[in-house]
Amino acid sequence: MNHAEKTEDGRQGGKRGEMIAVCSAKGGVGRTALTVNLAVALTKKNIKVSVLDGNFQFGDIALALDLHPTFTIKDVVEDIESMDPFALSGFLIHHSSGVKVLAAPERPEFADLIKPGVIDRACDLLTAQHDCLIVDTGTGLQEQTLQFIEKADQIFILTTLEMTAIKNTRLMLETLEVLGYREKIQLVINRSTMESVIKASDVSDILGFETSIFVPNEYQLVSQSLNIGIPFVSNHARTDLAKAVFKMAEQLISRREISVFMPKPNTFLQRLFTKHSTAP
Ligand SMILES: Nc1ncnc2c1ncn2[C@@H]1O[C@H](COP(=O)(O)OP(=O)(O)OP(=O)(O)O)[C@@H](O)[C@H]1O
Ligand SMILES: [Mg+2]
Repeated sequence: MNHAEKTEDGRQGGKRGEMIAVCSAKGGVGRTALTVNLAVALTKKNIKVSVLDGNFQFGDIALALDLHPTFTIKDVVEDIESMDPFALSGFLIHHSSGVKVLAAPERPEFADLIKPGVIDRACDLLTAQHDCLIVDTGTGLQEQTLQFIEKADQIFILTTLEMTAIKNTRLMLETLEVLGYREKIQLVINRSTMESVIKASDVSDILGFETSIFVPNEYQLVSQSLNIGIPFVSNHARTDLAKAVFKMAEQLISRREISVFMPKPNTFLQRLFTKHSTAP
């Protein structure tokens, strides 16, 4: 990479990384497990990845990667307006895979300190310096999560096949559709091989949403991985579970090659112009 071509952000030509928000209507469906494994899977494919633990009250990303954060997002609250990406990088925790983590505050009462301006700036600085930013969000549609959803290029909505998860996922999808986010959503069926009256193949019909991402049910592998803080894509890379995550990583990379290396159009006029200029 020619250093002279870089912008002050440290990325070539001011290109901006892809932002992915990992969300779910119900807690405990696998957002954290998916976030860390997808992040490491992308890193293995030479993608520069950062993870923001956006579950500000009860974030588990550091634990899931066996990291001991010296800094968290709370430490950047005061100065973030004046920070550049290099200054922020001093607050990121480095995982041995290469993934950089901006950790959640150490205590739930600090979550309210993370105001919209901080979230906005932190995401912008992280996408300025990494090819991909993955945000593990809180459960449901709370305000901070909605902000991540709005900023994200892609939204992964995770569900399992449990009735309560499906019912709430349906409500979440309907709400996000009304808000105009349907195009950005990818539905992920986690634990897709679990015993359930609802079959994975029926979910698309039930939710009225095309589903192409299925992650198998491997409780022992996933819970052990979370407990010891080693992502399963690292030490169980040949399992069907890991292969499902590598497949997601590959899909993301192929989409990214088409879209992300273009500056993001912000305004309606810019979007219109982009459409016209790419028309055959
Ligand atoms: N593919 C899977 N197969 C089997 N078990 C899984 C799978 N994915 C996640 N789990 C299990 O589900 C539980 C919750 O996982 P995880 O902590 O990643 O979910 P979460 O959505 O981040 O939860 P929270 O709402 O607490 O943040 C863990 O016990 C984990 O082992
Ligand atoms: Mg979690």
